[in-house]
Amino acid sequence: AKEMTYNQIKGSAEYILAQTRVRPKIALILGSGLNPIASEIENATRIPYKNIPRWNSTTNPDHEGVLIIGTLDKIPVAVMNGRLHQYEGNSMKECAYPVAVFKAMGIEKIIVTNAAGGINTDYRNGDFVLISDHIKFFNEGPLTGEDASILGGNRFFDMSDTYSQYLRNRVAGAFEAEGGKKLQQGVYAYMPGPQFETPAEIRMLRVLGADVVGMSTVPEAIMAAACNMKVLGISVVSNMAAGVENKKLSGADVNETCASIKEDFKVLIHTAVKVLEEEN
Ligand code: HPA
Repeated sequence: AKEMTYNQIKGSAEYILAQTRVRPKIALILGSGLNPIASEIENATRIPYKNIPRWNSTTNPDHEGVLIIGTLDKIPVAVMNGRLHQYEGNSMKECAYPVAVFKAMGIEKIIVTNAAGGINTDYRNGDFVLISDHIKFFNEGPLTGEDASILGGNRFFDMSDTYSQYLRNRVAGAFEAEGGKKLQQGVYAYMPGPQFETPAEIRMLRVLGADVVGMSTVPEAIMAAACNMKVLGISVVSNMAAGVENKKLSGADVNETCASIKEDFKVLIHTAVKVLEEEN
């Protein structure tokens, strides 16, 4: 895997901070079809990924590829409008690189969002799932070949409460208090894609304890854990996973579901940002 040096991370962070006077405290990564909140960022400075040193560009047309620095409800945030996936040819390290840059910018909290397939048969299309944990198989990881001490951590780092239970419960309580629907909490399985899973793979993942499946989020969450950042992970069930219903899967259906929940999802993000802002 291509090396990631502290100087590169610092160089990307300095480039970004030179474009704006806003100093974000929370990062937000928007998943497929979950970008409508991007238009609510105030005092926005928009930085195309292709201008940021060492930071890869998006190739998926549903992912704009612009970093937005600004405020949401007066809270300074850095919003990735579009993320980097392994299926685009990025290494796990390249997918997760922006998170190391956020850490170097002084950001200690991150919200990672995605559209995901529902494996748990109690879930319904359009449900929101706070990620409680993840499963990733044995291929490369974002820290392969790195010593996380360049990020201020340790080579071997703990993953047992990466998706902080305390934060999940705070967000769930606050969202329900605002009249939001009940949030699910479950395990996210990472599969690299770009093909959707086979029905046999989905049955396997269910046996292993997964509730949702998707092609993102895990590289960024591992990098955030290496950096000692607080992580909140949110999946939107954009379809039931392969074989759960007698139905073919398509990217168009994923986008349609995400469009149908966008107002609720905005409320959830406003709530989550507020909860994270209040935590030290
Ligand atoms: N599988 C993997 N990734 C996904 C899915 C799915 O069913 N839906 C949205 N992203």
